[in-house]
Amino acid sequence: MKKATDQPQQPAPGEFLVPSGAVARGEGRRRARPRLWHHDYLHLRPLAADLRHVLGDARGDPRDVAEPWLILDLGCGASPYREFFPAVLDAYVRVDLDGGASPGVVARGESLPFAAATFDGILATQVLLLAEEPAAMVAEIRRVIRPGGRVWVTCHGAWPRSGVAPENRFGEPDLERLFAAFDRVSVTPEGGYLGLPFALFNLALREGVRAAQRRFGRAALLLRLVAVPCFVAANLTGRVLERLAAAGPMRPLLSHLDRSLPMNYLVVAERGV
Ligand SMILES: C[S@@+](CC[C@H](N)C(=O)[O-])C[C@H]1O[C@@H](n2cnc3c(N)ncnc32)[C@H](O)[C@@H]1O
Repeated sequence: MKKATDQPQQPAPGEFLVPSGAVARGEGRRRARPRLWHHDYLHLRPLAADLRHVLGDARGDPRDVAEPWLILDLGCGASPYREFFPAVLDAYVRVDLDGGASPGVVARGESLPFAAATFDGILATQVLLLAEEPAAMVAEIRRVIRPGGRVWVTCHGAWPRSGVAPENRFGEPDLERLFAAFDRVSVTPEGGYLGLPFALFNLALREGVRAAQRRFGRAALLLRLVAVPCFVAANLTGRVLERLAAAGPMRPLLSHLDRSLPMNYLVVAERGV
């Protein structure tokens, strides 16, 4: 693992590049492929579906591509969405503040150890609200993306996170302001309003099971057998309501609510040439 230095550096092939298209494992796989029996299915499903779409299309027509793209995954964690990039086309640099995620480079997103205009694409999922200085992180993203490069950032919406500064709770206008220095910025709310109560119910249930496990040890594992069918029932109900709302006569009202209190946001932005 490489330590961050004060000197801007160019990623060196073979040093901290890994092939894109590699399939995520463990927590990464769970986040990339949310299932109905996962407590956070309603939160992660739209995130994975939208990212699969925009990242799969990241290069346009692959036949037009002569050089591999260099992608930065900032706040990478287990890099769940790496496999969504077209295979063989991209090299991938993983950066995280926490060395436990085994990133290629340990660094703060607010101060990246790379030269300006290094990357062709930058992915930063669910990290912006954790940054001590979100505006500095966005400024660094803009500095290290090359002109013409594309940035994909996802951000928590209505989702509990302990220790997050209130001013880091972004809505659509806040994200538009943060990315104002980019060209062609789109902010997409994700996750239906009617699914939200069921997503929060699952989260509370999961926290309850964890608390019981801490208190009663292995005996509380039995609670998981009860919790999983509850997750499935809540996820199914939330998903059916989301779909009915998206298709039904309530759509004009509910699409407004979806925009006011989404579970996540997806920002796609380009740096002008
Ligand atoms: C919620 S996890 C998301 C991980 C992954 N991107 C995903 O979508 O599953 C947030 C990650 O961002 C990292 N992180 C938090 N603050 C950071 C910062 N200022 N700079 C770089 N990484 C940061 C954390 O260590 C953690 O791995």
